[in-house]
Amino acid sequence: MLEVPTVPSPPVTPQPPAEAVAPLMRGLDVLRILTDAESGAGTLALADLARATGLARSTVDRICATLAHLGFVRLDGRDAALAPPLMAVANACLDALRLPGLLGPLADELAAELDESVSLAVPDGTDIRFVHQVLRRRALSISFRVGDALPGDGCAPGLVFRDDLPVAVDDQLVEPGLVAVAVPVRGPDGSVVCAVSVVSHTSRHTAKELPGAVRGALESSVRKMEAALEHHIQAPPVDESQRGPGRSPATGEPTPAPIQSLARGLAVLTAFDAAHPELTLTQVAARTGLARATARRALITYDHLGYVTREDHTYRLTPRVLALGCAPLSRTTLPRIAAPHLAALSERLAESVGLSVPEDTSVRCTARVAPRRVMSVDIGVGSRLPAQDTAAGRLLRDGGELAVADGPEAGLRSVAVPVRDRAGVPVSALDVTAHQGRGDDDAWAQALRDTAALIAADLHVTSRFVNVPVH
Ligand code: PHB
Repeated sequence: MLEVPTVPSPPVTPQPPAEAVAPLMRGLDVLRILTDAESGAGTLALADLARATGLARSTVDRICATLAHLGFVRLDGRDAALAPPLMAVANACLDALRLPGLLGPLADELAAELDESVSLAVPDGTDIRFVHQVLRRRALSISFRVGDALPGDGCAPGLVFRDDLPVAVDDQLVEPGLVAVAVPVRGPDGSVVCAVSVVSHTSRHTAKELPGAVRGALESSVRKMEAALEHHIQAPPVDESQRGPGRSPATGEPTPAPIQSLARGLAVLTAFDAAHPELTLTQVAARTGLARATARRALITYDHLGYVTREDHTYRLTPRVLALGCAPLSRTTLPRIAAPHLAALSERLAESVGLSVPEDTSVRCTARVAPRRVMSVDIGVGSRLPAQDTAAGRLLRDGGELAVADGPEAGLRSVAVPVRDRAGVPVSALDVTAHQGRGDDDAWAQALRDTAALIAADLHVTSRFVNVPVH
């Protein structure tokens, strides 16, 4: 049965149980505060993080060092920023929820038919949280992403859940000009599993006429969604032989994380997936390689904070897990994902490196990092070059694993390798471009391949449930 775990509200009792893991609670607090900050203004300085959590600066430093060790946070001078590998936590939640995978394609179809934005939302305590978004918003307006939450009484899906309505309308509750209509999608047992919303603008539809205008398409889409839930393939049986213990980033590491209890606790979240939407304590221990007592205390902590629910002896993730980084990471783009990797590559080679995407018969540079020195190659971000003039252009035009070209100007040489998306399609080319005779093509090619693999890994984890624009 497909079940959407709901969080009882009020979600958090003030007094944590004695067995709750304090460092895990603090680490989750830091991730949540970074998520909120990045959904708004941007990254946070470590000093601000100390202020926001009420923790000592030295504690914040150790927590962030642990999160950086896991790849979940990037430390950049005094700032901490969420990093793409953290999306694995949101992916575990979205995968275990099954809804985005089962209903997402039908929501995409509805958005295309109506030429309007469509979203899927689930209850999260008294809030709602988006688990799928198809954006087709023309007028300037807020755009919510997967992982974003809204107060339940201030949006159409929230009213559907709160009052068990067959249809609810948001007449500019969220933002002037924004109108939405939401209807429930029911599982085979008749319970509401999510709400599908069609979101428009008053320049296209008034709140009054919107439900009528989209009704036919919306009703037929909901029927298809409910049929998909009815017929969805049961999760395959658990086959623990497929995986050894220790998929967790907390084990088998050459150097231990500064705060091991935090690293181990976080590994529990990624034990869940579509094939394992509910797990017993024994299964969590087996899938993470953690000691049973460690897994148990982590689960007690998550249960207390509303990130898991327990029924009899099984645990499920709740949509609140999406409060750990999902929304800001689902707003990212390929150039932003690539930026730290380009900086590291440029430093390693001491040359100008960049990322390009195909555009008609040319290529457009979408990111570039040049070393600081007088004579470095200067190709502006956004500039377009004919495909035949650069290695990146030839690679994207002709395919292959490596391209070398003299150009784009006399005296320059460029070497490029592809960056592939989850489907293996080369969506972008990574190049180094320098004055001829300065570098060794083979050494450059190896460095490019190493970096392309890092960028691709970040792209793949980020784009599992959300669309990541290539520029
Ligand atoms: C959205 O998907 O962005 C959305 C949905 C329903 C609302 C408001 C916004 O009431």
